[in-house]
Amino acid sequence: MAEDNFTVTPWEVKGKVDYDKLIVQFGTQKITDELRKSIESAINDKLHVMLRRNVFFSHRDLDLVLNDYKSGKGFFLYTGRAPSLGMHIGHMIPFLFTAWLQREFGVNVYIEITDDEKFMRNQDYTLEQTRQWAYDNILDIIAAGFDPDKTFIFQDTEYIKNMYTLAIKVAKKLTFSEVRATFGLDVSSNIGIIFYPALQIVPTMFEKKRCLIPAGIDQDPYWRLQRDIAESLGYYKAAQIHSKFLPPLTGPEGKMSSSNPESAIYLVDDPRTVERKIMKYAFSGGQPTIELQRKLGANIDIDVPFQWLYYFFEEDDERIKKIEEDYRTGKMLTGEIKQILAEKLNQFLEKHRERREKAKEMVKDFKYEGKLARSMWEKIHE
Ligand code: TYM
Repeated sequence: MAEDNFTVTPWEVKGKVDYDKLIVQFGTQKITDELRKSIESAINDKLHVMLRRNVFFSHRDLDLVLNDYKSGKGFFLYTGRAPSLGMHIGHMIPFLFTAWLQREFGVNVYIEITDDEKFMRNQDYTLEQTRQWAYDNILDIIAAGFDPDKTFIFQDTEYIKNMYTLAIKVAKKLTFSEVRATFGLDVSSNIGIIFYPALQIVPTMFEKKRCLIPAGIDQDPYWRLQRDIAESLGYYKAAQIHSKFLPPLTGPEGKMSSSNPESAIYLVDDPRTVERKIMKYAFSGGQPTIELQRKLGANIDIDVPFQWLYYFFEEDDERIKKIEEDYRTGKMLTGEIKQILAEKLNQFLEKHRERREKAKEMVKDFKYEGKLARSMWEKIHE
């Protein structure tokens, strides 16, 4: 990765990511038009905006997942989250998309909340904190629209007893040198973090069906390890569908990250904060003066408001085409596109907050009492 001007690891995304190069580096497959068509024909519905616009751009074994679906064997979905203080809109990408896949295919979803990972990775965090964040983040995740009877949301520190037997089987297959090389650990790393990859791999084996993981491509190193060992334990190699990163507000490089609050829109940001952040910080590909913008138009490839609208806030294909054309040719001004984004974002956040309120009543179903949750608490994964 060092020879390029960008870095993608589970902890860091730096530089302007070249996603085509990443496919080669990580050894994944491009989502082709043909594959998009076969998803469309399997679900008999219009594709999700993030598939149509190539936000989910890369995969492994998605074709095999579709075959399993068509043949009646079925599959299941798995994704996860290391809880933090306040999720931003980029964090919603995999969950919104996973909830859509669940609706279209009617399959089970497992969502791992790694309060342990977060605790072990940062010296300053206490378990009380990471558990509180877990509760909080779970509300946002439920608000993405999952089916309470077919979704199990579990926190590692609570569910570990049921996973432990399988975790040690996975752990025994992974050497320190593999894990060190994959995650860039060293001898000063605490031993919890060295063991942790086993716990992120275990849920890929929750059912004896193929597991499909929708997630940002930064999580890919875990799945490479999983695919090396899964069959030797009697499970399928996990399939993945990878997304690009929602860029930070402040520029097209890296990913939106909680460590820089100005660069992120949080799910709790009120309408005025959203508008202020966008007007003040959103990186523009527009020209510095109105006259120049009218004459030369904007560079939409680096324009963050356009990218965000394109990624998922403007679902209407005709409308986004028109915005693109008007902005690129100078008919639309920077202030105007920022206004469109602020309105779209605030509409999304308002609905999200309503769903999040309702989610408070539903936490117990997803974690303990729903149909899938109940059956998972009865199950020891061995
Ligand atoms: P975490 O909490 O760092 O990230 C959770 C999910 O959000 C995605 N993501 C983004 N996607 C688009 N744009 C962004 N700016 C952006 N920032 C984060 C991540 O790719 C990820 O899908 N170790 C994991 C937790 C985990 C997990 C899993 C994730 C456990 N099991 C299975 C995915 C699948 C973590 O730290 O995720």
